[in-house]
Amino acid sequence: MATAKDSRTYDVALYGASGFVGRQTVAYFADQPHVKALGLKWAIAGRSADKLEAVRKDFPASNMGVLVAEAHDAAAMDKLARSTRVVLSTAGPFALYGSELVAACVRHGTHYVDITGETPWVKGLIDQHHDEAQRKGVRIIPFCGFDSIPSDLSARLANETMWERFGEACTQVKAAFSIRGGFNGGTLASLFNMLASGQSDAMADLFLLNPEGKRPANADAHSDPIGPRHDPDFSAWLGPFMMSTINTRVVRRSAALLGYADGYDYQEYLRLGRGPVAAMAATTLSVGSFTSQLALRLSPVRKLAQQLAPKPGAGPSEASMDGGSFRCQFVGHSASGKTVRGLIADKGDPGNRATTKMLCESALALAVQLDALPGGRLHGGLLTPASGLGDVLVQRLRAAGMTLQVDPA
Ligand SMILES: NC(=O)c1ccc[n+]([C@@H]2O[C@H](COP(=O)([O-])OP(=O)(O)OC[C@H]3O[C@@H](n4cnc5c(N)ncnc54)[C@H](OP(=O)(O)O)[C@@H]3O)[C@@H](O)[C@H]2O)c1
Repeated sequence: MATAKDSRTYDVALYGASGFVGRQTVAYFADQPHVKALGLKWAIAGRSADKLEAVRKDFPASNMGVLVAEAHDAAAMDKLARSTRVVLSTAGPFALYGSELVAACVRHGTHYVDITGETPWVKGLIDQHHDEAQRKGVRIIPFCGFDSIPSDLSARLANETMWERFGEACTQVKAAFSIRGGFNGGTLASLFNMLASGQSDAMADLFLLNPEGKRPANADAHSDPIGPRHDPDFSAWLGPFMMSTINTRVVRRSAALLGYADGYDYQEYLRLGRGPVAAMAATTLSVGSFTSQLALRLSPVRKLAQQLAPKPGAGPSEASMDGGSFRCQFVGHSASGKTVRGLIADKGDPGNRATTKMLCESALALAVQLDALPGGRLHGGLLTPASGLGDVLVQRLRAAGMTLQVDPA
């Protein structure tokens, strides 16, 4: 696909290709008929030539290149960013391995997607690179995995549908998640790194990712839910959702970038079900999640948890990943009381199978549909999935078998 007009060797480079999620992105690029049909030039990339060679053997593909580049080697990052139009990165913790790569992508006009959930790291990227990326028309789009695509696209779909049907904005959107899946060692390493580096206060900032001067006056009214609640919109008991401190900040940045309604309110929860058992589960979860968050701030508790957790490079079994699933039900309300409802859902472990699909389709949107993306070819900045990829990503994920639906009026 790389054209004479753009002399770069590759359309997409998959950085972190030897990691647990990285290998799944390679499988996606090597196997999916719709990806193969695009005839892309793509490369696997990472720090270890030996590990990349093993990946190449496991997923043979004739058009696959190999790029060796260590994350802290600025010259190697420059070379990588110059050689490709799009970088897809799974090399995390991103606060440890992602900063040089993003800087190189901004320098060389290379679009970038990743699956970080590390909001304080992204806040640093916004401060450092947003203006330059905007001037240069480079799209830097973190959070393209299970954090935070279902949340961000739910909010976008609810808003769009409210305008289409009623000519009004959503003033409130709520999402209720049900998930079946496991944890990767890499995910836990990223969480422990955020906590150990003393960034809990930044993570608690409800509008951490909002552009300067775009925080609502009533910021405290948006505080993270901690208790159980019965919500008539979902006819179910809900409890705190562990990803919500990431996802809500991302949706609020989208709200600011895309101009959702003034005072716009987004919250999300874990759906526990109906009846007294669900009520008890919501209460237990609320207490458990509150106390575990406090406990993990203590260094000895964190060290013990780290010893017991799966190590980087490890993750759930193939059978367990195939048996996983997620559902994100959403409800939007307008100021005059109009309502829209919808669902984003897929089979497969959300942190692996669904994350791989969302990330790879995000990279493909940048590689082959740049003109159709929000803002057009020249739009750039530190963007969110909804503001940087928008409806193109919705269509791509539907075509890849994911459910993204809005209920009929
Ligand atoms: N958004 C989501 O829903 C979601 C889901 C899953 C994971 N994640 C995030 O994705 C990241 C990866 O997860 P994972 O389970 O795949 O972790 P992993 O298996 O530990 O993979 C980490 C990758 O980083 C690479 N790396 C480590 N040090 C490096 C260095 N100095 N230079 C270059 N590369 C280096 C590793 O290379 P080697 O192979 O050479 O060691 C490996 O490829 C984590 O940050 C995790 O939190 C997000």
